[in-house]
Amino acid sequence: MSWSIKVPSSTANLGAGFDSIGLALNLYLELNIEEADEWQFIAASACLEGIPIGKENLVYQIVEQVAKLYGKENQIPACHVTMKSEIPLARGLGSSATAVVAGIELANVLLDLHLTEADKVQIATDMEGHPDNVAPSLLGGCVIGHYDGTVTYSQVAIKGVTFVACIPNFELKTKDARNALPVQFSFKESVQASSVANVSIAALCQGDWQTLGEMMDKDPFHQPYRKALIPHYDELHHYLKEQGAYGVFLSGAGPTMLAVVEEEKANSLVDKWKEGYPDYDWFALQVEHRGSVVEKI
Ligand code: HSE
Repeated sequence: MSWSIKVPSSTANLGAGFDSIGLALNLYLELNIEEADEWQFIAASACLEGIPIGKENLVYQIVEQVAKLYGKENQIPACHVTMKSEIPLARGLGSSATAVVAGIELANVLLDLHLTEADKVQIATDMEGHPDNVAPSLLGGCVIGHYDGTVTYSQVAIKGVTFVACIPNFELKTKDARNALPVQFSFKESVQASSVANVSIAALCQGDWQTLGEMMDKDPFHQPYRKALIPHYDELHHYLKEQGAYGVFLSGAGPTMLAVVEEEKANSLVDKWKEGYPDYDWFALQVEHRGSVVEKI
């Protein structure tokens, strides 16, 4: 049997929504799967050059973990998997979350698990430790989640804006970016921080991008600590805001920065920004309203 699996990338945090807010974007990981005699992964795009070709591949590792959860580890049929990706690795656009989601979707079809969307979100969040990349990659759109062992989530409709990605040519491992964060906040700091997150959610729900942009700049959770790891962060932030972005934020753990801009202005802004900062890759990305899609071929 053969299947295709398509999983959208994602951005996470959107300022103060640390480990909680994420939204799906229109760059994709695509898998073509055929049952075969032994496992083999074939990289069919430059982004994936050098990925493990056998059972060390992250997608297989996830398939195996899901199989174990359901006591089916001895029933996994071998497959040839051709992988194509548009998502740059370790840049804060949820590339590893797409592999986790693809592995869960693959286990679901190979082992006939009949997982619900909620099951998939729970399994993926258990694996990642937070829902902000995996939930939008599974469900599409903007998802706000809470995780304390059990994941609870709610979706928010988003329209009218484009997210312009400014992608530097170096990787930043999430682990290193998390090591830069403080270990604790006082009660007063926690109350302040949660109010920034609360206003961010209200603004997101209203499509009040100006207010969301202001709150992004008041994020006390991660950007003040992580920006030291990203050369030119302050300079770019200042430039993009001055050029008319509603808001600018570090995408997930970085190093990609995203500017929230009016849909109609996105293409002309990208042309201008490319000229100003040619050493970065610039993409005008849209919210992907569909989550992962699995088809039998
Ligand atoms: N919320 C996560 C972080 C996303 O910022 O570390 C990346 O895994």
